[in-house]
Amino acid sequence: TDRAARAWFKARCTDAGLTVREDAVGNTFARFAGTDPALPAIATGSHIDAIPHAGRYDGTVGVLGGLEAIRALQRAGIRPRRSIELIQFTSEEPTRFGIGCLGSRLLCGSRDASADETLCDKDNQTLNEARGAAGFGGSLNGVRLAQGHYAGFIELHIEQGPLLERAGIPLGIVTAIAAPASLRIFIDGEGGHAGAVLMPDRRDAFLAAAEIALAVEAAAKGTGSRDSVGTCGLCEVFPGAVNSIPSRVRMELDVRDTSEARRETMLAKIALGCQEVALRRGVTIRREMINADPPAQCDPAVVAALRAAASQHHFKFQEMVSRAYHDSLFMSRIAPTAMLFIPCRGGVSHRPDEYASPEAIAQGTLVLAEALAELAR
Ligand code: GLV
Ligand code: MN
Ligand code: MN
Repeated sequence: TDRAARAWFKARCTDAGLTVREDAVGNTFARFAGTDPALPAIATGSHIDAIPHAGRYDGTVGVLGGLEAIRALQRAGIRPRRSIELIQFTSEEPTRFGIGCLGSRLLCGSRDASADETLCDKDNQTLNEARGAAGFGGSLNGVRLAQGHYAGFIELHIEQGPLLERAGIPLGIVTAIAAPASLRIFIDGEGGHAGAVLMPDRRDAFLAAAEIALAVEAAAKGTGSRDSVGTCGLCEVFPGAVNSIPSRVRMELDVRDTSEARRETMLAKIALGCQEVALRRGVTIRREMINADPPAQCDPAVVAALRAAASQHHFKFQEMVSRAYHDSLFMSRIAPTAMLFIPCRGGVSHRPDEYASPEAIAQGTLVLAEALAELAR
């Protein structure tokens, strides 16, 4: 399905007269040539991959909105001085290879590209095998783009929270992106017969996991800030039979905050909780940090371009932080970056009933087009 979606997307870009390039990890770049093609381009884009049981707007709005923004500029007869480049990033969601924003991380050089070649999915297919099968060859080291390659980057995205809808405001201009951390926890206890082993003799790995999940909740609630959140969204129990005591658990935690220091405090409390549970329950617990990224500040000039574009159409907007992470978090390391949010119904996201109205998408796309044109002028 990913390859079919990519093929459809590339065909729409070609229809629009854009020049399409793909890199070794499948990041796709569609260029609307400016009159001065030697200047660094202005870029926009997002992702079209999705988590299991996802909605249809997270990411997709920024990719198709970016394409429509370019097509609108073409229809208006605008020929920008800088080229405008639309990017479709590979694997923004952490679903397949266990790490979010794989494409944009490699693009900004934040990863050891050689080590990533052997990242595995749940069926033990390596990233190298998967990208080879999809037709993306060459070394991952070649994905990295230099600082200054782009003169600016804007990502249009649904808010994924309720604030804009509640305030009746159609646009959010993002000034900072919260810092996510995710970690894997491996618990080893002792399995056995669910009927025969007496309760005091047990070292149940799942019960230890349950206590850790509650420790995550307590750590997040304990900071006193509503910006602190912690989630245990994955818990695999081995051997996974109703009449067998769990001997092993693999769980994954997601801990976020707009303040890196508060996030570190939560992680420290979770680590202490793990130690305490391991000792009391006689299980061994190993922690593996998957990522702990610093937060990003958006660029004042790109924010100003978004503000001006919204004001020009008398659209109300609100400045806000992004509590979700995005490819923009990584693009901000190599280019002046900002984000534009539109409301989504009920603030719902990462669910099939996620929805943004055509009117909201059109408003966001219009402001994106104006801001891209201004930055590329
Ligand atoms: C992105 O999907 C996130 O989890 O914030
Ligand atoms: Mn998402
Ligand atoms: Mn997204």
